[in-house]
Amino acid sequence: MTVYNREEVLLQATNVQLTFDQHPILRDINFCIRNITRPGLLQGQVVTLIGRSGIGKTQLFKVLSGLQAPTAGQITIHNNKSVKAGDMGVIFQNYYLFEWRTVYQSLMLAAKKNKQLWGMEKQTIERYAEQFQLTEHLHVYPQQLSGGQRQRVSILQQLLKGSDFILLDEPFSGLDVCMIDKAVELLLQVSLSDELKTLIIVSHDIEHSVAISDTVFILGTEPGKEGATIKKEIDLIERDLAWRKDIRREKRFVETIEEIKACL
Ligand SMILES: Nc1ncnc2c1ncn2[C@@H]1O[C@H](COP(=O)(O)OP(=O)(O)OP(=O)(O)O)[C@@H](O)[C@H]1O
Ligand SMILES: [Mg+2]
Repeated sequence: MTVYNREEVLLQATNVQLTFDQHPILRDINFCIRNITRPGLLQGQVVTLIGRSGIGKTQLFKVLSGLQAPTAGQITIHNNKSVKAGDMGVIFQNYYLFEWRTVYQSLMLAAKKNKQLWGMEKQTIERYAEQFQLTEHLHVYPQQLSGGQRQRVSILQQLLKGSDFILLDEPFSGLDVCMIDKAVELLLQVSLSDELKTLIIVSHDIEHSVAISDTVFILGTEPGKEGATIKKEIDLIERDLAWRKDIRREKRFVETIEEIKACL
């Protein structure tokens, strides 16, 4: 069994409700994400939110990142501070990029927002570009990139900004099988880049997102109640299913996936 600790709370959702035209979309959302530590490692957190299409994942994603104010309740990060737009790195489903700027210009803009990179922006961009296989594409415009390259630029942009939280909406949709594997590697690499780095993945690609997560939240509805809530939380570390390469082939992993599917 891996040695680890769940320590201070990094993000707390308290009684979050979201209603549109009197229709509850989200209700009674309560959960927290704690800092996970492992001796000798920079272990970040990877949380997956799973739910059926149309259940409210993207809405919850917007509330979590401060882009959408909840109708009631709140999201707090870093010692009880309410989250506000810009606190988190957000990667949208369509990998939105500034089409009129070259990749390098966009990355430089992001790096300049990060005080920790002051004076080292250029070297840092070049180092990451190499790591993300983007060196040859630094001076082109986004319309000259493939889907996978756009995604890598999008992730890199958020990494350079230096936010502790990175939210990804459907990071695997629209990618081919090889690219999905690369994206998975990339996300793992990001999660191991910093102790406090927390990835929140909103996805209905259950296998891929669960395979790289330490915790799963299932968003769903309950009989007689309108609006989606967190129906179940699965601690993958306790089940010894986290941080293991090739976990997807193991029987216990397959059983957990079945358990999740049954809950949707
Ligand atoms: N501005 C809005 N006004 C009213 N209802 C909305 C609005 N935006 C979204 N909804 C509704 O909120 C619900 C949840 O939508 P959301 O986009 O969060 O689903 P999702 O779980 O992300 O689905 P998918 O997996 O297909 O992306 C849907 O029923 C949608 O119709
Ligand atoms: Mg969505």
